[in-house]
Amino acid sequence: MILALNWKMQLLPSQAGPWAERLAELSSNWPAGLELALFAPFTHLSALAAALRGSRVALGAQDLSAEQFGAHTGDVAAEMLADLGCSQVLVGHSERRSEHAESDRLIGRKLARARSAGLLPLLCLGEPWEVRQRGGQLEYSLAQLEAALEVAGEGPLRLAYEPVWAIGTGKSCHPEDAAQVSLALKRRLPGAAVLYGGSVNAANLAQFLRPELDGALVGGASLKLEQVAEMAALCG
Ligand code: PGA
Repeated sequence: MILALNWKMQLLPSQAGPWAERLAELSSNWPAGLELALFAPFTHLSALAAALRGSRVALGAQDLSAEQFGAHTGDVAAEMLADLGCSQVLVGHSERRSEHAESDRLIGRKLARARSAGLLPLLCLGEPWEVRQRGGQLEYSLAQLEAALEVAGEGPLRLAYEPVWAIGTGKSCHPEDAAQVSLALKRRLPGAAVLYGGSVNAANLAQFLRPELDGALVGGASLKLEQVAEMAALCG
């Protein structure tokens, strides 16, 4: 099972180190089959890399530039993240797609860039509410995947199925529906891990621990260590 924590734009860099040291400590007693990853803001990564060194928690960024080094003010290159100690990166989170108008093409380029720096991309997919209402979630998520693969080609990749309407709303997706989307994604990309994300917490995670899913991407509930510890214990 994979438990991926997405801090989004929360906490301060000065809080990150102590938090992660505690996480590293606690996690040494968590179930052996559990894989942990923490996706944090760029400003926190340096402190987190130091705190998590030698631990079982992989470090990731929440975004990266589609460009390599060069004149791209404000952007962060994949190589910079790798050099800092990141091994993973989120790509195409719905908040990037909606707040920064990230297109499938740009997301595909980011995927390719992540891979070329040796980072494992976690591609986020999922439909808005209008699409879900007419039952189009499968086609929608597959089309997002296809569009990214068209640009990035084959290579290492993990997927997170995160229906937009379930993110941060307290309305999680029905586990059976998440399982159906996961199976469709796995048919397209055999061997890829597929996580579910969208209002997952310690109270509902157990419903998503099923053979069609490989874990969860957790936002809001990832900020409280007690919640993370409870979720980790369920993954035994
Ligand atoms: P949430 O966020 O758990 O707060 O719904 C999930 C995500 O956006 O990754």
